[in-house]
Amino acid sequence: MSSRDEWKQHYDSSDDHADDDPFPKMLDGEAHNILGPYVATETTTVVKALRFAGVGPQDCIIDLGSGDGRFCVAAVQQFRARAAVGIEIDAELVRASQAHATACGVGSKARFTCADLTDPLLDVLTLAGDANPFTLAIVFLLPESEPLFERHVRRLYDGGVRILSLAFALTGLQLLKSERPLYLYGRDG
Ligand SMILES: C[S@@+](CC[C@H](N)C(=O)[O-])C[C@H]1O[C@@H](n2cnc3c(N)ncnc32)[C@H](O)[C@@H]1O
Repeated sequence: MSSRDEWKQHYDSSDDHADDDPFPKMLDGEAHNILGPYVATETTTVVKALRFAGVGPQDCIIDLGSGDGRFCVAAVQQFRARAAVGIEIDAELVRASQAHATACGVGSKARFTCADLTDPLLDVLTLAGDANPFTLAIVFLLPESEPLFERHVRRLYDGGVRILSLAFALTGLQLLKSERPLYLYGRDG
C-alpha cells in the first residue's frame, strides 16, 4: 500500500464536509471556549490546502484546533514537513490524533497537545519542541471566535509564520493568495 493510500485509509471518514457548508453540525449553546465545532476537513481538501501553502521539508506546522490530526499527519507524511504540532481542546481527539500519527509512521514528528486556546496562560510557541520555529499555522475556526484566538495568530504572524485559514478570511493580516475555501497570509510576499 502506498503512503498516500495509508494516510487516506486512516482519515477518509463520514465526518468529511462539503466546502460550501463548513459547519453543518454547529449547535446553539456551545461552551464559550469552543471556537468552532469539530468538523474534519476532507482529505482531498487537506492535500489541496497543504499544496496551496507550498508545504515542504522546510516547514514546521501548527494546527490551532487540530481535530483528529489529519493536517499535521499529512504535512509530515505526505509533504515531508520537518514536524507538526496540533493543539486541540478535546482529549479524545488528541488521543485519536496520536494514534493516527503512530499508525502512519510519523508518531515522533507529529505531536498533539490537549490545550484550550482561550486559556490566557497558553503560549503556543512554548509547545513547538522539535517544530521550533513554526513556519505555517493552520486555522479552521469560526470567524465570530476570532477575538478569542487572534492573539495566537497575531503572535505567529508577527514572528514570520504563514497563516492558512480554511473557509473564512481573517482580519488585519496581509493576504498572499486565496482560492476558496483557502486563504494564505504572510508578512512577506
Ligand atoms: C473545524 S474543526 C477543525 C479540525 C481540523 N483542523 C481539520 O481541519 O480537520 C475545529 C477544531 O477546533 C477545536 N477547538 C475548538 N475550540 C477550541 C479551543 N478553545 N482550544 C483548542 N481547540 C479547540 C475543536 O474541538 C475542533 O476539533
